[in-house]
Amino acid sequence: MTQIVIEHCGADAVSAREDAIKDLYTATYQDVLDSSFHSVERFLARIRGYAKAPGFEFVLGSVNGQPVGLALGYPLPTEARWWRGLTTPVEPGLIEEDGTRTFALCELMIRPGWQGEGIGHRLHDELLFNRPERRATLLADEGNDKALQIYEQWGWREIGKLQPSWLDAPHFHALVLDLPDR
Ligand SMILES: CC(C)(COP(=O)(O)OP(=O)(O)OC[C@H]1O[C@@H](n2cnc3c(N)ncnc32)[C@H](O)[C@@H]1OP(=O)(O)O)[C@@H](O)C(=O)NCCC(=O)NCCS
Repeated sequence: MTQIVIEHCGADAVSAREDAIKDLYTATYQDVLDSSFHSVERFLARIRGYAKAPGFEFVLGSVNGQPVGLALGYPLPTEARWWRGLTTPVEPGLIEEDGTRTFALCELMIRPGWQGEGIGHRLHDELLFNRPERRATLLADEGNDKALQIYEQWGWREIGKLQPSWLDAPHFHALVLDLPDR
């Protein structure tokens, strides 16, 4: 079995690990880097923004010292902007935030060549199942059927469709996952 080393990091480690994060992103999303929303610069700007949120956390998985994947996110604040782009009706109680209810999983990516070996599932569980929040949410690109199927297999359920407020943002499936009591 592959020996993976997992580091839990806070916002203060983002700038120190930015080259590794950028390298992982470039390798994983090479097919879409030429779209403005998915460009490396925009991705890094989003990560720096997420890192300003209280409770931001990322886990980095490495094999033989080389980063092979990461998962990151932050807890949604009260009146979270996250839900403002919903394009389908949802029951209001589903999107009420109190600052402690929901952890937003903003990115989960595994370097090509290391996908399908259980590393994504491991980093996903390592981040989410150690969090104090009661549930998690993520946005899966409407064109990313493979990721959607994997998330559904891991217990996520769709509550609606969403397009973030940026003009060039894609349409997403909005998913939630109940987290175990700790
Ligand atoms: C999606 C991603 C994070 C998954 O990570 P991974 O390391 O490849 O996934 P794992 O090997 O841990 O697990 C894959 C699981 O899905 C299953 N699976 C694989 N392909 C599948 C498919 N097409 N349909 C359904 N299930 C699938 C596997 O059997 C495995 O199940 P298990 O965890 O119950 O054993 C990774 O493939 C990735 O980085 N993709 C590119 C970036 C991306 O799309 N990120 C998600 C953005 S929303």
